This record gives sequence, structure tokens and C-alpha cells, in this order.
Amino acid sequence: MREHEELEAKYAALDRIMHRYHCDRGQLIRVLQEAQEVFGYLPEEVQTYIAGKMDMPVSEVNGVVTFYSLFTTDPQGRFTINVCTGTACYVQGAQHLLEDFKRNLNLTDNNTTADGLFTVKSTRCIGACGLAPVLTVNNEVHGKLTRKDVSKLLRTYKRMADTESRQRIGDTPPNKERGHTFEQGMSPIDECRQRIGDTPPAEECPQFMKKAEVKENDWVSAGLGTDQEQPPAGH
Ligand code: FES
Repeated sequence: MREHEELEAKYAALDRIMHRYHCDRGQLIRVLQEAQEVFGYLPEEVQTYIAGKMDMPVSEVNGVVTFYSLFTTDPQGRFTINVCTGTACYVQGAQHLLEDFKRNLNLTDNNTTADGLFTVKSTRCIGACGLAPVLTVNNEVHGKLTRKDVSKLLRTYKRMADTESRQRIGDTPPNKERGHTFEQGMSPIDECRQRIGDTPPAEECPQFMKKAEVKENDWVSAGLGTDQEQPPAGH
């Protein structure tokens, strides 16, 4: 019953998102981005629902979902760790961080732990090369990391999950362990630019300049990495 109610609440939230964007097809990427925040991923039924409400073919919605690497059609863990393996981060040891996370979490075939707590992925430049090596955990950015930070980060987020689950049954004070959280409406790129002095790190990461040219509505693709430059027809 509770699951059913949660699902209904998610669809109600999705309705509000589409309503806010007036079901405008031109805002599909933003709708999908926020839908993914609500559901955690974009399964077929959510894509179909969005297509119906926005009066467009499911194939068009699916084309956008599969084009941008930001979107996923697979369930994600409570915390998604995206390790940037762009040039600047790679030379600073990002690959070792990625391997350490996978080893620490016993991830071999899957990207998500059996308990559904963590998903570990690699991504391209997120525009914060000055903080390399960088990773994001959901919307939080962590930079200038060393291999020692891997287990510390995992411990922090495991504690956070424990605290959340205790809070759900009402026996602990509010969690104060959270790290940096983006301001509402601010993209990771914008936030990181502010933190590193608004200077796009062009020399350090040529991909950044290329991706920074993507128009504002499409920042999601610029921020979380894809080498593909041309969106599907109509976007
Ligand atoms: S290469 Fe990692 S943030 Fe640019």
C-alpha cells in the first residue's frame, strides 16, 4: 500500500513539473531531468506517461532519453557516484578512484550494489577541472580527491543513509553530515564556475569549451558528459 502511495505521489509530482513547463515540447529535456530526479530513473512507463501528457510520440521522448548520457532507464542506487574521467581528472588519478570505489563496493558486473545504496559510474568533464579529480554524489560535488577519500566518502554516505532511515521512524535529530549542495536551479557547471573564479578551464580540458557552447537549455548534456554533439531531430 505504501509503495502504491509513493508511486502516486511521484506521478503527481511529475504532473506538477509538466504543468510548470506548460507541457511545452521545447522543455522536454528539463521535464525529463526533473522526472528523473523524482523517479530516480526513466523507465518505459514514465516515458510513455510524459509523451501522452505532452502530446508527442513516445519514440521522440525515448530518442532524447537514449541520446543524453545523463538519462538512465535503469534503477539507480540511493547515491549515484559519478567519477569524472575527463582529461584533467584522468591525469590526476580519476581512474584509480573509480576502480577503488568498485573494489570497495564489490561491483563487478553491475554498477549498482545489491542493497541498492550505491551506483558507480564514470562520466566526462563536468566543467570543474580546477578541482580535479572530481566526482559527484547525486548533486554534491567533491574535488581534489585522493584514494584515501574513497572509503571516507562511502562511510559518510552510508551514515547518511542510516540516519535517513532512522529519521523515517522518527528517532534521531536532523542529519548534519551533508556536504555541499547546489543552490536550487543552479547547474553543476554554473556552481563550479563560481567556485573556481568563473574561468572556464579551456586549456586543462578542451572538452569543457566544446560542451560549454551547448545552449543553456541543454546544460544537462554539457554537464554530465557525452561525446555526441548533435541532438536528435527537433532538439
Ligand atoms: S575533466 Fe573532470 S571536471 Fe573537467
